Amino acid sequence: MKDPSLRRSVALFRAFLHEQEDPEACYSLLARDAVDQVEAYDGPVNGRTVVDVGGGGGYFTEEFRRRGAHAYLFEPDVQELGEKPPEGAVVADGYLLPLADGVADVCFSSNVLEHVADPQTFISEMVRVTKPGGLIYVSFTNWLSPWGGHEWAPWHYFGAERARARYQRRTGKDAKHTLGENLFAVHIGTTLRQVRERDDVTVVSARSRYWPFLAETVAKAPGLREFATWNLLLILRRYQ
Ligand SMILES: C[S@@+](CC[C@H](N)C(=O)[O-])C[C@H]1O[C@@H](n2cnc3c(N)ncnc32)[C@H](O)[C@@H]1O
Repeated sequence: MKDPSLRRSVALFRAFLHEQEDPEACYSLLARDAVDQVEAYDGPVNGRTVVDVGGGGGYFTEEFRRRGAHAYLFEPDVQELGEKPPEGAVVADGYLLPLADGVADVCFSSNVLEHVADPQTFISEMVRVTKPGGLIYVSFTNWLSPWGGHEWAPWHYFGAERARARYQRRTGKDAKHTLGENLFAVHIGTTLRQVRERDDVTVVSARSRYWPFLAETVAKAPGLREFATWNLLLILRRYQ
C-alpha cells in the first residue's frame, strides 16, 4: 500500500477499530506498514541489522526478519512479550540497551516514547546503538492527540484522573495506563525542539505517521499539530 494514501489510512484505521478482537491482524498490518516506511527512507532492510526497542510481542521484529533483516527485539516487560515472542528476544530496558555503540543499521521504536518518563534519554540510547549514517525510527502518540489518553481517550482532554476513573466505571476494568506511571504527556513541539538541538542526528522527516495527506505539513503547524497529527513519526539519521 502506498504511503501516504487514503486507502492505506482507512485500512489502518479499520484495523485499529478491531484491535481488541483481532490484535494479530491489526499489529501485522501495522508492522508491514511501518517496515514499508523504513524501506521508503532507507532502502530494503534485507541483510541489515535492526534493533526494535520496546517491541512488545514482536510483530515488527518478525516483519523485519521476514524481509531478510537481522532483527532483535528488546522489551522490558515479559507480559508484553506474550506467549510466543520472537526467538532470541531480550528482556531489556530501552534506557540501557545491552548493546555496543553503533551496531544497528536501523534502530526502531513504535509507540514507546509516550510510555517512558525521560524521552530524551530514551532517544539518546537509540542514537548510541545506531551506526553513523544509520536510521532511527521513533513514533509516538502525543498527549494532545485525540488518542493521547489511550484507552481512556478522548476524555483525557478533561483531565487524566477523571478520564481514568470514567473508564473504570464504564468498563468495570482497571485501566492499563496511569498518567505519570506508564503514560506520559509528550508534546510534539518540545520533542522536535529537543531532537533539532542534538548534534549527533539530523531530522530527515517529522510527520504524521498515519495521515493520508499533508502528513508533513500538519507536523509543522505549532499548536494545531498537537491536536491534529495524531501520532508523530520522526525519522532521524545519525551523523557520519
Ligand atoms: C504501546 S506498547 C508498543 C508496542 C509495540 N512497539 C507496538 O508499536 O505495537 C509500548 C511498549 O513500550 C514498552 N516500554 C515501556 N517502557 C519502556 C522502556 N523504558 N524501554 C523499552 N520499552 C519500554 C512497553 O513494555 C510496551 O511493550
